[in-house]
Amino acid sequence: MNELIKKIQKLKEEKNAIILAHYYQKGEIQDIADFVGDSLALAQWAARTKADIIVMCGVHFMGETAKILCPDKKVLVPDLNAGCSLADSCPADEFAKFVEAHPGYTVVSYVNTTAAVKAVTDVVVTSTNARQIVESFPKDEKIIFAPDRNLGNYINSITGRDMLVWDGACHVHEQFSVEKIVELKAKYPEALVLAHPECKSAVLKLADFVGSTAALLKYAIRHPENTYIVATESGILHEMRKQCPQTEFIPAPPDDSACACNECSFMRLNTLEKLYECLKNESSEITVDPEVSAKAVKPIHRMLEISEKLGL
Ligand code: 13P
Ligand code: SF4
Repeated sequence: MNELIKKIQKLKEEKNAIILAHYYQKGEIQDIADFVGDSLALAQWAARTKADIIVMCGVHFMGETAKILCPDKKVLVPDLNAGCSLADSCPADEFAKFVEAHPGYTVVSYVNTTAAVKAVTDVVVTSTNARQIVESFPKDEKIIFAPDRNLGNYINSITGRDMLVWDGACHVHEQFSVEKIVELKAKYPEALVLAHPECKSAVLKLADFVGSTAALLKYAIRHPENTYIVATESGILHEMRKQCPQTEFIPAPPDDSACACNECSFMRLNTLEKLYECLKNESSEITVDPEVSAKAVKPIHRMLEISEKLGL
């Protein structure tokens, strides 16, 4: 393992590459990355890096977002099969028809979408900035929100908006069991529930704090004295335990305890070996149709500009 890590680090320097990793990656990938963050931070890092190669240790849409922002750089994802059930729940052709059928609506899309969906979007959001970006529009703005119904409904509930919400979801966040979280709360009465807004509303109702992966991490760092039940992909526990070694973090259980459903099967496709291979061979490269890219870059830039103004 150590040999492999050394080889990756050597290649990275030789090729002027940067390794970016999402919090849902395997621990050993997070440990070797130059930067670990949530979806917004990964896009911000990709936009500002001077590296020639970006190795995006995350899923396909994250690589696509980086490529759209940096069309002249090589963007690699260790395993190109690392997709996203949420992005898949919004096919671009169906979504384009839906948008066309609703003239006068502003289209707000979560970053967990394909480039083609972003190309018919007015502004992209992530779970870190969705609330603020939606609230930056007048109260009576007619908004389509896609693709996550849980995040969209949650934002409607906290902002009093009435956005038209696409009926998509993430297979990991939909799996958390309300009954098992209630049982855990009874077993650990002092524990607080941290939940990602992609979870079902019944889980969000049980949460003491709802936020993006970065926000959940920040909350735990600010209050390390608590015990936490964490309702999001369990990869985040790696950084939480690193930052708060004295704190007890309990992963929220999925409905089917026989499966490791609180791990994203797509995120976990990336391995150190594949990271090494893709950097060595400059393979697993992300490509985006230039016409689609030229349209998709606008709503991504709009998100980055608003986020910068908001200090996010
Ligand atoms: P964030 O990185 O915005 O917390 O989103 C989580 C997620 O599901 C990424 O796929
Ligand atoms: Fe997509 Fe869900 Fe995996 Fe995030 S956790 S990448 S939303 S499938």
